[in-house]
Amino acid sequence: MAQFFGEEFLHELRSRLDIVSIVEQYVTLKRSSSSSMVGLCPFHNEKTPSFHVDGQKQLFYCFGCNAGGDAITFLMKMQNMSYPEAVTYLAESVGMTVPTRDTFDSEITHLRKTILEMNRRAARYFHECLFQSEGKAALDYITGRGLTKNTIIRFGIGYSPAGWSGLYDKLREWGYKDEQIKASGLVVVSEREKGTTKLFDRFRGRVMFPIIDANGNVIGFGGRSMDPNDPAKYLNSPEVITFRKGNNLYAMNYAKATKRDCLILCEGYMDVIAMHQAGFDNAVAGLGTALTPEQGRLLKKYTDRVVLCYDNDEAGRKATQRSMQVLSSLDLQVRVLTLRGGKDPDEIIKKEGRAFFQALVDGSETGVDFRLNEILRRYDLSVDSERVQCSGEVFDLLASLRQDAQREIYSSRAAKMLTLSDDTVKREVAKRLRNLERLRKKQQEKDENNRLRGVGDRINPQRMTHLKAARAEEDLISVLLAFPEKANKICEQISPEDFVTDFNRRVFMALLEQIRENPTATEPGLLLSQYFQPDEMGRIVSFISSCDAINADDKEILRAATVLKEEKRRIDQRAAGGDQAFAENLKRLREQRKTKE
Ligand code: UTP
Ligand code: MN
Repeated sequence: MAQFFGEEFLHELRSRLDIVSIVEQYVTLKRSSSSSMVGLCPFHNEKTPSFHVDGQKQLFYCFGCNAGGDAITFLMKMQNMSYPEAVTYLAESVGMTVPTRDTFDSEITHLRKTILEMNRRAARYFHECLFQSEGKAALDYITGRGLTKNTIIRFGIGYSPAGWSGLYDKLREWGYKDEQIKASGLVVVSEREKGTTKLFDRFRGRVMFPIIDANGNVIGFGGRSMDPNDPAKYLNSPEVITFRKGNNLYAMNYAKATKRDCLILCEGYMDVIAMHQAGFDNAVAGLGTALTPEQGRLLKKYTDRVVLCYDNDEAGRKATQRSMQVLSSLDLQVRVLTLRGGKDPDEIIKKEGRAFFQALVDGSETGVDFRLNEILRRYDLSVDSERVQCSGEVFDLLASLRQDAQREIYSSRAAKMLTLSDDTVKREVAKRLRNLERLRKKQQEKDENNRLRGVGDRINPQRMTHLKAARAEEDLISVLLAFPEKANKICEQISPEDFVTDFNRRVFMALLEQIRENPTATEPGLLLSQYFQPDEMGRIVSFISSCDAINADDKEILRAATVLKEEKRRIDQRAAGGDQAFAENLKRLREQRKTKE
């Protein structure tokens, strides 16, 4: 488990922090009870406050989006910081010295470091291959696409040789073990007969783009095929412990230092590279997924203005609409650049030059204008029936705007475009707002219901399939949270291996570890943010806040443990049954084949 800082240090830090004043730097809070403050949640859109901060427990929780955690989690989410970054920041704010790195090394941090080091060496190896004879075609290819030598070096572009194990052999030669190499995602594991496996290079015969995070680490690769018939034009590194696609943006390491007043978000690696080469050093790209809120927060860390610059096709326009929602819910100013003169920035810069592209950036419209025009261009306003339909869509759009001022400005603009009176537009928008509010309330109730039943559970995806077991697990966790002194009693009845769902098992183990480290602690749940992602902390805080009501006599422990063990036995049996049936089938097939021969 990742443990970065010592327990003592964290306890000391906790005792000096005040979550209320930390949250208040971002959120206006009102008192709601003697220990609790409430405000509008900064992590989702809402009009009535459901974001609670508990000054006594030093925790926050949002009943709307289930975000929760301690001061550290709050900062991680709010500022898109890593755990050590948030701790360091907070420690410094209360005048504490942060322990040095070697005091918080552990297995995971060591593996993480090893993988990053492997990636860096792999990047260097690919880069060198580009300039050898085997890389000639690749070098010709990217030079043919207009990249200069400088750009190739700046972005560390490389070539992965076509053989099966060029990189793997190097990694072995450099002393890495198969386990480490597997964990890096640089190789593919192929199953062979008799249960043996073989490792070979994931990237073969591709132009390689190292993906570098904002801190300068090589966290993964995108590999472009040079064969136009290849079904996988780009192959990306898989998600491993050092690589979360949804948390990173390509070229952020350079773009974060730009002097320009906005960041430009485009679709592809090549777009970004072409733009940087043309002097737009503020361009970044997603990594082949739809824009995530985490990526939005990463942008927000460096700018408050984002220009969307997706490809000029249907897919690009759809992505623009979606990303716009993500970004405006983070209160980022969004503009949309409509590409002209080519399908993507790479092509346009090549064909029309840099001044032309700058003009496009300057002429980018606000997000609302873009969406208004998207609606208007689909209708012929000289036909009455079309004008009516178009107006309906425009009213919907206006009603979805968050700020009153925005609604007012665009309402009167829309009125002019549709040649309707301001009053009519205002009335229609108000009607829709009321409807929306009603729907929102309904949805909230439904979400709450689903949450209670665990439907669509991202934090613990196994919960729904094994609901009975999961509930027993949660009962045990609650007992442990409320009565840490019962840890021994609980461990007599149940061990982590008996847990069915992985998430609950991790929580259980982390709690036991906390209690072992600090046997007299009365609230073992309070230091868990060192082991869990900000998203996961929300669930843990909901355990903590519901454990007050738990009745924890030994009978309850026994009951939950018995249910869990019984469920576990049933599930294991079913799985083994599946394996057995499979084995029997296989045997039958083999025998049939033999008799044929
Ligand atoms: P595009 O298809 O627009 O590629 O995909 P591109 O950037 O214009 O590439 P070139 O110019 O043909 O070389 C945009 C982005 O989507 C992801 C990549 O991140 C790519 O940069 N993508 C695309 C994949 O991950 N896999 C694919 O097969 C295709
Ligand atoms: Mn392209």
